[in-house]
Amino acid sequence: MDFNHVPQEKKTQFALLIGQMGKGILGFLFGVLIFGSIWGVSSSVPESPNFGPQLEEIPDVPWDYAMFKNVDYTHPATTEQVAYGRRLVDATADHIGPKTSKPFAGNNLNCSSCHLDGGGKPFAAPFVTVPSQFPQFRGRENKEGTIEERINGCMQRSMNGEPLPVEGEEMKAMVAYMEWLSYETPRGEKIKGNKFLTVDYPNRRVDLDHGKSVYIQHCQSCHMEDGQGQRALNSFTYTYPPLWGPDSYNDGAGMHRVITAAQFIKGNMPLGTTADEPLLTDEEAYDVAGYINSFTRPEKENKIADFPDRNLKPMSTPYGPWSDPFPADQHKYGPYGEIAAFYKAEYNLNKSK
Ligand code: HEC
Ligand code: HEC
Repeated sequence: MDFNHVPQEKKTQFALLIGQMGKGILGFLFGVLIFGSIWGVSSSVPESPNFGPQLEEIPDVPWDYAMFKNVDYTHPATTEQVAYGRRLVDATADHIGPKTSKPFAGNNLNCSSCHLDGGGKPFAAPFVTVPSQFPQFRGRENKEGTIEERINGCMQRSMNGEPLPVEGEEMKAMVAYMEWLSYETPRGEKIKGNKFLTVDYPNRRVDLDHGKSVYIQHCQSCHMEDGQGQRALNSFTYTYPPLWGPDSYNDGAGMHRVITAAQFIKGNMPLGTTADEPLLTDEEAYDVAGYINSFTRPEKENKIADFPDRNLKPMSTPYGPWSDPFPADQHKYGPYGEIAAFYKAEYNLNKSK
């Protein structure tokens, strides 16, 4: 079934979606220019007092937002399966959440809680081009992993749940949707904005008091003082998702790493923030990331099995074992400068997160 056979209101939903994405084009391209030039400047500064600038590779293939405008709705790639994939990503809790008849997810977040705009927002770990980058070597499992395994990584950590059956309709629909988003992008190439913004960290431990004041000023209005967010009226999920506590991502999730969380926050929060105009400074993003991750959350079982090759473990992974002598508190809250220097000297490895 192609998109023309999808009921009119669904077509309209997609048209709206595409329209919204279209509006971002100019702003985004402008942002790429600005970001590109800031990047150029900061990476030419020889001595930074901070832990950055970034060691991470920044893909330079521009993200062509305009492609979404040109998507051919009669293309066989846009099917009811794709539309279902989009609904699963946006309203995960209503389809496979703990209160449904298919309770694969263990919390009431949605994939879109972190992969904003249905995985179409740059610098919010977008799904665009992702399927063509798999199979891919994954340090956490120390083997080549498939796109389905990567989705199930988020199911078991970010969603604190169980893996989806690889042959099930949900998994197939999500992969089909990601393929649809990637339609017309350069296959196998990483595009600009494919992960998160990089952050130039202060080389000191997270300042939790400062993180708390940033939280009160910039986050609390939506995520609430107790971090539990605000429930949506007519669905199982949230209007503003929780950032810690029993219904949040678990302690094995990428967002539980201070560096990853700071990168996500800088380019995307408070809601409406875009990568070309981050509201928070790098220090604010770093401290508030530490603050939200200082509270209790569900525990992932068997984390000891993660990263069989310990050298590949990101240095801000807050749980051991590590192949370095630094204490758990320093992995969780920094300072990271020393840890990065250790891996460089000892193993010639560049650690960026
Ligand atoms: C709590 C936040 C959060 C939620 C919810 C979440 N993810 Fe993720 N996801 C992440 C983070 C963080 C990464 C890692 C990005 C990176 O590699 O730096 C990631 C990475 C991914 C990737 C790999 C992207 C790439 O560029 O290689 C896929 C695919 C993915 N997630 C799918 C999903 C799906 C599907 C869902 C819903 C079932 C979901 N995620 C829910 C935070 C989340
Ligand atoms: C205007 C409301 C608003 C403000 C202010 C805001 N957020 Fe969010 N935040 C959201 C929404 C909404 C989402 C989910 C995105 C979606 O559903 O489109 C989200 C998602 C998140 C997520 C990932 C999902 C999760 O539950 O873990 C994190 C982390 C986060 N916000 C942190 C912050 C931090 C830190 C601040 C302050 C710097 C902040 N937010 C300020 C509305 C807000």
